Amino acid sequence: MKIIETVSEMQQLCRKLRVENAPLGLVPTMGALHEGHLSLVRRARAECGAVAASIFVNPLQFGPNEDLAKYPRTFDDDCRQLAAEGVAVLFAPTAAEMYPPGAATTVTVDGIGDRLDGASRPGHFTGVATVVAKLFHIVQPHRAYFGQKDAAQLAVLRQMVCDLHFDLEVISCPIVRDADGLALSSRNRYLSPVERRQALALHRALQRIQQSIATGERRSERLLQQGTQEMDTVKVDYLAAVDAQTLLPVDRVEPGTLIAVAAWIGSTRLIDNFLTD
Ligand code: PAJ
Repeated sequence: MKIIETVSEMQQLCRKLRVENAPLGLVPTMGALHEGHLSLVRRARAECGAVAASIFVNPLQFGPNEDLAKYPRTFDDDCRQLAAEGVAVLFAPTAAEMYPPGAATTVTVDGIGDRLDGASRPGHFTGVATVVAKLFHIVQPHRAYFGQKDAAQLAVLRQMVCDLHFDLEVISCPIVRDADGLALSSRNRYLSPVERRQALALHRALQRIQQSIATGERRSERLLQQGTQEMDTVKVDYLAAVDAQTLLPVDRVEPGTLIAVAAWIGSTRLIDNFLTD
């Protein structure tokens, strides 16, 4: 696996891969890799001639009081895992390489970008859309792989790809969970053993809602009340039933409605979701 730190070298190599090993797949990450990230890489490997991955803890998507400084960095371990999965090239730029002094252009997805996590984390999705647009330009992949875990991020990026005419396919991959149901996240590393147990409240709330839908309940208000009852040990940021594309609230759930939750467990903010059948 080649490890590349500069934009120009990455562009040069990807131009070649795009032609000689089509289709070219891209898996963007912030590192601290776990089985969720690796599931994206495996899917990309199965569907593409070559896979590029990126590791970049993107300062632009962190708020001033968020965890940028303490975000877990496990670069050597990440490299070993990506190489073992058959990734052809890893792009790991510095912040100065991605945002040189004087950089002034950002990408904002109005509306969608201000909903769910965008509402709780102002500017977050501008940071995400900007860095992903840059990665798309640098790598020019045929396919880009993202996790359903970050459902609002997916909605924002799909809208961006459509609006900016990126000639690529966005592929969403299922949420990978621990055996007890907790969605894998790089931020799970922050949890103490007690918090790790409390974190299961998110999954419990979603399960409760899923069961209620299975027995015929369709009213969002009632479903969200039931879900909230499962989360009295954590601080709920949002629990919502929304249209999966627009992220706007719906009164009644239908097949494909997104039920999404975010909650604070101590100082760690976790998210989870499911799409209704
Ligand atoms: P990061 O949190 O590192 O996640 C990288 C990718 O892995 C995202 O597409 C995310 O949805 C996916 N992922 C994370 N946990 C997962 C799980 N349990 N199951 C399946 N997929 C999972 O998301 C980002 O980085 C950044 O915002 C990024 C897109 C790289 C832009 O900076």
